[in-house]
Amino acid sequence: MNDISNNSGMQAYWMPFTANRQFKAAPRLLARAQGMYYQSDDGRGVLDGTAGLWCVNAGHGRRRISEAVAEQLDRLDYAPSFQMGHDKAFEFADRLSRIAPAGLDRIFFTGSGSESVDTALKIAIAYQRAIGQGTRTRLIGRERGYHGVGFGGITVGGIVNNRRVFPTLTGADHLRHTHDPDRNAFSPGLPEHGAELADDLERIVALHGAETIAAVIVEPVAGSTGVLLPPKGYLQRLREIADRHGILLIFDEVITGFGRLGAPFAADYFGVTPDLMTTAKGLTNGVFPMGAVFARRAIHDALMTGPENAIELFHGYTYSGHPAGCAAGLATLDIYAEEGLLTRGATLGDYWRDAMHTLRAAPHVIDIRTLGLVAGIELRSRPDAAGARAYEAFVDCFNRGLLIRVTGDIIALSPPLIVERSHIDTIVAQLRDALSRIA
Ligand SMILES: Cc1ncc(COP(=O)(O)O)c(C=O)c1O
Repeated sequence: MNDISNNSGMQAYWMPFTANRQFKAAPRLLARAQGMYYQSDDGRGVLDGTAGLWCVNAGHGRRRISEAVAEQLDRLDYAPSFQMGHDKAFEFADRLSRIAPAGLDRIFFTGSGSESVDTALKIAIAYQRAIGQGTRTRLIGRERGYHGVGFGGITVGGIVNNRRVFPTLTGADHLRHTHDPDRNAFSPGLPEHGAELADDLERIVALHGAETIAAVIVEPVAGSTGVLLPPKGYLQRLREIADRHGILLIFDEVITGFGRLGAPFAADYFGVTPDLMTTAKGLTNGVFPMGAVFARRAIHDALMTGPENAIELFHGYTYSGHPAGCAAGLATLDIYAEEGLLTRGATLGDYWRDAMHTLRAAPHVIDIRTLGLVAGIELRSRPDAAGARAYEAFVDCFNRGLLIRVTGDIIALSPPLIVERSHIDTIVAQLRDALSRIA
């Protein structure tokens, strides 16, 4: 057996989005998890300030989910979903359609957020063609957007490090991002300034022609690039412009879905319904790799044409609608409903916001953004060492028992939705201490 405490046993695993050599020289290993806490391999409790990777919304170690998965694996471990079906996939899609934003009641299962994004982009193009708009193939994303790592996702994504080494699909374009700390720093809720940035879609239409554009995709709240909140009215305006030009609006709710903002979906929170919505992560409480694309019924129906023996959409994955994933997802939905987790952020959000904003006086902090149970705390970068300060805070926090997430010099917090006020106090206190320790 490999001894992972001996670093030579760590070389085979090529870690994702990780500084492999640095990590393996000083590894951080998690061994167990329960409720709000991880336990490190040396037995220390680590408060989970990030719901794993924005996904463990109901907290760790939920017996109901693991038992549902075990029971399902014993009964039906795998079933193909091409020209075949099984009960759990239909049941799960039906249950999801009941909590979906109005009208988004046709569900396509995938294996991850990246697959959900590529699926939604392909559905958008297929739909446009089905309604006689076959010239609409262009995809519009936004600067600082993160839509996973498939070629579709990096094409519409707006993070340069994810793009510079790889070719992207042709014809895409990007809206400007909405992050404007000069005007909006320390806004207690949604930023006041910047709704007009949605008019960028008009600029892109004027440049390329609406008849070339299939869809525009945005994260309602950009998560991975540091919790960038949409300015008041921005998403409404984007919806109006997209409608005016026959462009589909896709919300990437891989992070915001399943209660993060204090409503089931960001679409509910903002009162703006997209045409397609991508999800993953909280769909199964992170327990099983799975995603789902929610489509407006008219989009689905437009593709249900032609001879009945013809496959309508040439797309799908071996693991689409995996029985264990569906069982995990159904148990997760039960927990969300019984414990009111999809709206818990609405009652706890004020406490969370006020607690986070006490960090305004902490060293290095130049902006704080919160909504529901998510927060972004932006630090001033060291000259010529962007990201170093936040990374040191991350390591310091981990060593003292708190898991945070950093992107550049922004700290992102998104605890499991079972978080209590006492945990919030601990997160803030530990973070304040860490910020005062780092240079
Ligand atoms: C908004 C958004 N879209 C897509 C993804 C990709 O999801 P996955 O890592 O499951 O492929 C992520 C992951 O963080 C995300 O935040």
